[in-house]
Amino acid sequence: MLHYLSLKDIDSLPNWVEEARSLKTNPKHHKGLGKDKTLGLLFFNNSLRTRLSTQKAAMNLGMEVIVMNFGSEGWALEYGDGTIMDQGSSEHVKEAAQVISQYCDIIGIRAFASLTNKEEDEAELVLESFKKYATVPILNMESSVGHPLQALADAITLVENNTKPKPKVVLSWAPHPRALPHAVANSFVEMMQRQDADFVITHPKGYELSENITKGCTIEYDQEKALENADFVYVKNWSNYTNYGQVINKDTNWTITLKKLGQAKFMHCLPVRRNVVVADEVLDSSQSLVIEQANNRTYAAQIALKKILESLS
Ligand code: CP
Repeated sequence: MLHYLSLKDIDSLPNWVEEARSLKTNPKHHKGLGKDKTLGLLFFNNSLRTRLSTQKAAMNLGMEVIVMNFGSEGWALEYGDGTIMDQGSSEHVKEAAQVISQYCDIIGIRAFASLTNKEEDEAELVLESFKKYATVPILNMESSVGHPLQALADAITLVENNTKPKPKVVLSWAPHPRALPHAVANSFVEMMQRQDADFVITHPKGYELSENITKGCTIEYDQEKALENADFVYVKNWSNYTNYGQVINKDTNWTITLKKLGQAKFMHCLPVRRNVVVADEVLDSSQSLVIEQANNRTYAAQIALKKILESLS
């Protein structure tokens, strides 16, 4: 039984990317694979792309889909062992995960980082608890630490747009008014570590991601220098990791403009705040790949679901 919890669950990234691109040319080719199977999608946080693209992917594979906005509609879950549940939580994840496993053949979970409890976030409390107590495979639809469906879609988009044997790819931090998680940036870094590319991360001093993630990566604090001769610029805000979950920098000098982008292609996972993270002129230019990235979310989800379904048969 295969789970898709992180990029570590991919045996060969190039093979998955090629297979996803093949699915893209004939999305309904494996329509029989998901027959009589149900995908349950549990959202503890909001979504547009993940919710719709994962449903679309499941439908392409012939699956039935049921969706629950757990954060607003479900009982508040307890995760601790031996807790005296006389406070806010109404149901323990032990029962919830086993019950949902009776209704679904695969469970997709979106549960963002709290950004208040680093230890719990790093332990992937929600995702790992469901993995522990569910009796069916788990699909990570963005957890505290990672967004492997997004990174897989980004890998597909890079392959489709790359023209060089070893492109220069830059991950740039950008300002944002609210505290955002590290998951997208983390998974992008992990994905890039498996690519033959000149990969550079740029962010203000003090905004380092976890060293466990960026080990061996080039970090350049001068954004202008980092962007020199870039082929792809992936832009993402993340809140401070050291002062966990804090927004201590909103420097608009880090906003991406067309001048900074040069000839590079622009990438972002969306949703994006226009003229805060990136200027209109970039998003509205032919250099922007954001709509292609969002389209590839369907095929990233479809290849992940296909691999999981095949592991069940
Ligand atoms: N990129 C992404 O995961 O989009 P949503 O948050 O809208 O699902």
